[in-house]
Amino acid sequence: MALAEVSELKSPVKTWVPSKKQLLIGGKWVDAKNGKTFDVENPATGDIVAQVADGKKEDIDAAVKAARKAFESGPWKDMSASERGKLVWKIGDAILKYGDELAELESLDNGKPLAVARAADVALSADIFHYMAGWATKIKGDTFEISTDHFYTPGQKYFSYTLKEPVGVVGQIIPWNFPLLMAAWKLAPVLATGNTVVLKPAEQTPLSALRLAEIIQEVGLPDGVLNVVTGDGEGAGAPLAAHDGVDKVAFTGSTEVGKMIVQAAAGNLKKVTLELGGKSPNVVYKDVADIKATAAGAASAIFFNHGQCCCAGSRLYIEKPIFDDVVSEVSNIAKGMKVAPGLTSPDMGPLVSKEQFEKVQGYIKSGLDDGAKCAVGGGTVGDKGYFVEPTVLTNTNDKMKVIKEEIFGPVVAAEPFDDHEEIMSRSNNSDYGLAAAVWTSDVQKAIRTAEAFRAGTVWVNCYNIFDAALPFGGYKQSGWGREMGSEILEAYTQVKSVVIAK
Ligand code: NAI
Ligand code: MG
Repeated sequence: MALAEVSELKSPVKTWVPSKKQLLIGGKWVDAKNGKTFDVENPATGDIVAQVADGKKEDIDAAVKAARKAFESGPWKDMSASERGKLVWKIGDAILKYGDELAELESLDNGKPLAVARAADVALSADIFHYMAGWATKIKGDTFEISTDHFYTPGQKYFSYTLKEPVGVVGQIIPWNFPLLMAAWKLAPVLATGNTVVLKPAEQTPLSALRLAEIIQEVGLPDGVLNVVTGDGEGAGAPLAAHDGVDKVAFTGSTEVGKMIVQAAAGNLKKVTLELGGKSPNVVYKDVADIKATAAGAASAIFFNHGQCCCAGSRLYIEKPIFDDVVSEVSNIAKGMKVAPGLTSPDMGPLVSKEQFEKVQGYIKSGLDDGAKCAVGGGTVGDKGYFVEPTVLTNTNDKMKVIKEEIFGPVVAAEPFDDHEEIMSRSNNSDYGLAAAVWTSDVQKAIRTAEAFRAGTVWVNCYNIFDAALPFGGYKQSGWGREMGSEILEAYTQVKSVVIAK
């Protein structure tokens, strides 16, 4: 099949994209055992730009076997924590060195603006490796004096300590909204803690993970420590989640699939962490210092990454006296946004896929059918690619699908509210609890609101601020466990208690 050339790409990405894409297993690039490939699309045009090995259960088996071997014997097992930390640091450096290439790939594959991919995705990906590198040498246990006088060894004294050990072979399944960054959030802690891994990128966006794997090989990770199997959810993701040779599975994606991962993991009771969906409330009080700045924050809360963020501020709750002003400011911002192919660095690019394009349009239609109004947007842009207009819905109510369900597109619903108690109860009336935000100039109100939100992250007078040091994850059905920070180390280590008679 002839692959479409992408004229905006620069060398060397231009020649890399159409080149053969294989699986990384045990340090070697190999075809899928069945020899099949799947197509990678440019969401700005719908053109096929690459073909990637279509990994299945037998490839997952081989990758898990390679990861097990690398975990149990060889240079990785014997490597000092300091050496491991240095390698993880070097991966961060290499991401910055190849940052322009990675940003181009990310923009092509996912559709996001090139400038955003460079400034956000690449920079944050390097950050997490640099941050986690420091933890490699700081993983430690405790010591204990045993107080119990054991009945069959009276008078015997004991000393004990704990060891924090890696969990073993980890399966990681990641989504398409931040393909490189999700790979980085997952790989950096797994490597810092001395595990080995089989990574399954999203079938919509496999390119940056494959390039990252090449870059990591160049840095010099021992063979088999990182294995990458591209493929779809059913063919490659499900057998990885169910695999008896996997000790832990880490998943980011839909809540629906998260529940399937839990069931699949039950076979060998592997450890599970999940980072799932959201429907985050963004609460604007009438006492905000600056309506324009607040509206700009509310717009970026939903339109960043085209709303394809698990923590997108998709429920915009505005105190009644300033409702019209804020809606009109957010709508003006939406109206002024340039929507065009990501590689031309517009304000917004296309959605990631035809499926997502149709899903988002379906939600807009469902809102309008239920009686909502479009303050702005509601349509699509152009006659090819998956472009949806930034959209502001009003006249919604809390029973509508557009308020209850994750849309994962550039669609915000704005609703008025009267007081704090009411809006806290409405904000928390969701199956999700990933993130929330509040805008106010009253410090007490900010503190009370931050406490009242049932969510894993709360932003006050800001939105979408992440840091490698700051744990990120969900309350309720938004997930299990946390990404990043020192919290993630718990997910990739297990504790062994050792007791010594003295
Ligand atoms: P998804 O949850 O199906 O896909 C995420 C990852 O899981 C991909 O790598 C996929 O191949 C894999 N996967 C799918 N089915 C699997 C299975 N049975 N076993 C193991 N792995 C499996 O998400 P999808 O279909 O791409 O998007 C659907 C919706 O999910 C979106 O519209 C959005 O609402 C939500 N979503 C949430 C994300 C988040 O960051 N929390 C990211 C992506 C999607
Ligand atoms: Mg799916």
